[in-house]
Amino acid sequence: MNENNKSITPSVTTPASHEEPDAQIDGSSGEDTNPDISAFSIVFTNAQLPANISGKIQQNILSNPFFILELTAILQSDPYLWILVDKERSLSGNYEPQDLVELNNGSYRINRDDLYLRNAAAASLEEMASAARAEGLVLTASSAYRSYSYQVQLYQRYVNEMGQNAADKISARPGHSQHQLGLVVDFGSIDDSFALTGESRWLTANASRFGWSLSYPQGYEGVTGYSWESWHYRYMGKALAAFIDNYFNGIQQYALRFIHEWIKLN
Ligand code: DAL
Ligand code: ZN
Repeated sequence: MNENNKSITPSVTTPASHEEPDAQIDGSSGEDTNPDISAFSIVFTNAQLPANISGKIQQNILSNPFFILELTAILQSDPYLWILVDKERSLSGNYEPQDLVELNNGSYRINRDDLYLRNAAAASLEEMASAARAEGLVLTASSAYRSYSYQVQLYQRYVNEMGQNAADKISARPGHSQHQLGLVVDFGSIDDSFALTGESRWLTANASRFGWSLSYPQGYEGVTGYSWESWHYRYMGKALAAFIDNYFNGIQQYALRFIHEWIKLN
């Protein structure tokens, strides 16, 4: 992993140490004496979580064991489900998933040939698309796995068309694309018109039940570094998708940044 690429400046950077101590539930003074909470506070700060999210997690940690149990289970799953691949953290140019399978028209449609996903993501896509079909909606996969070398070409094409600044808002540099994980699908038209479709509304309401998460939500451009992409979903597995919803307000970038900083300190 390359830690030294260009960085983003998240727009919301309230350190957890500025939070009110009202999360205390044991009648103690409010002094931060619990060593676990101290460790978490450092992680909240390093992960640049907003105060409302770190406060909610802190309350959970103090009142029940579920956050830590869920985190422990997630960390025992396939690391590529939770690895942070963003503007700052990249995959190696050599990284290529070993269990890619070709997508075929099943319950979902494919917009072109030669679309691949990792096995678990493909199976989950089928399960999710089948549920959408039962409600009269057909999900269409338009882009999926992209190799490092393909991303080189794609990114360069955007730079040539619109210049580097604009390209960096909509396209990942080679090594920095979640598509290289083989765990991402771009649905439908791959433009803002997708957000107006029934498929998009269905995914917004249901994708996380099947283990998928919107990577670049509207209003979080300063956090993710990318413009809103209503069509780009990453398969995380059901446990992590629920963890993101329950503790991180559905914001994948916050959850993965939290996990990234947590494992650095543990
Ligand atoms: N459009 C997303 C950011 C990518 O290129 O992976
Ligand atoms: Zn995408």
